[in-house]
Amino acid sequence: MTPPLDLSAFKQAFFSAFDRAPRIFRSPGRINLIGEHTDYNDGYVLPAAIDRHVYVGIAPRQDGRIRIVSVDFKGVHEGLVTDQGKSTLGWPDYALGVLAGFRERGIQLPGFDMLVGSDLPVGAGLSSSAAYSCAVGFALNELFNAGLDRSDMIRIAQLAEHRYAGVMCGIMDPFASMYGRSGQFVRLDCRSMEYHYVPFSAEGYALLLLNTNVKHSLASSAYNRRREECATGLDWVRADFPEVRSLRDVDESMLDRCVAPRDKVIDDRCRYVVQENARLLALCSDLEKGDMAAAGARMLQTHEGLSRMFEVSCPELDYLVKAVRGIDGVLGARMMGGGFGGCTINLLRTDIIDQLVNDLSRAYEADNGLPLTAIPVMTGEGTMAVDG
Ligand code: GLA
Repeated sequence: MTPPLDLSAFKQAFFSAFDRAPRIFRSPGRINLIGEHTDYNDGYVLPAAIDRHVYVGIAPRQDGRIRIVSVDFKGVHEGLVTDQGKSTLGWPDYALGVLAGFRERGIQLPGFDMLVGSDLPVGAGLSSSAAYSCAVGFALNELFNAGLDRSDMIRIAQLAEHRYAGVMCGIMDPFASMYGRSGQFVRLDCRSMEYHYVPFSAEGYALLLLNTNVKHSLASSAYNRRREECATGLDWVRADFPEVRSLRDVDESMLDRCVAPRDKVIDDRCRYVVQENARLLALCSDLEKGDMAAAGARMLQTHEGLSRMFEVSCPELDYLVKAVRGIDGVLGARMMGGGFGGCTINLLRTDIIDQLVNDLSRAYEADNGLPLTAIPVMTGEGTMAVDG
């Protein structure tokens, strides 16, 4: 597991690269308790920010130039604030995507030097890219008093992901990064953008991520295809129910009538989304009642849906869920995020964690030929200035 970022080493690295002191901002990764692949269908999500972040050190320039370096990746990106297009280095692209978002809003920046660092594992499904874009957007906005609010910066981050990574993602990840609060999940209505905080305090229970260490190179095209499949199902429903605006407005009887007779796969995709929205609302009332067992059971149902109906799981994720299911003290487990790799999120009794990780690591490695990484997570605060 990546160690927490050392802030004084980070400042020193900025000083070595640019010969002056930075202001520092950070934005967290996210977990999601339930509500997967619902955000781009105008549904509900229940994410939380975590205590791991992407950090941006920044200082202004007045000559229209930008320089970006990274603690973790090689190379210096040098260019002009007005440059369009991508970097040959790859990793600066999210920052450039965010900069483009500022330009499109008519905000001209005078130039800057930037250092990027992180203690968020990359490729684990913790939304390091959204955290990166949010940290850059927040840093530019603060440094230059650009007058954007958090929702503007969230939209800019989402667009950077669409354009620069080609993933047609929803709003959940940058939202959670910007609006997270310690000890809370955020229930977000992705249609109205209304949200409220749902406290998560389960005495004796914890959330544990188990990283499969699987990274699927086709994950982004498969993600985009799921989005299209949902849109196809929606079109078919709308032919009979023109008042329907998104899968959020659809119920299973509409699917029985308009989608099931035409295509089983499209029906499965849409039905999963309809069921998942209902499950999320039910899980929120479980939490209100303090019924953690019921909440855990719903997480397991979500996994079934994601694996069999939405088909975004993979053998290693299924392996991990199956392995913990039924263990005394494990209330719930499911794959988390876009899918095809990354982590499972597990709701379990704190006192069984060490033994479980120990036993499962050995079995997982032996059966899958990959290491298992356990990531204990704490919820944390959203995007903020750190120092300077
Ligand atoms: C990725 C996307 C999100 C969301 C999840 C699935 O993390 O970036 O917008 O769609 O997958 O819930």
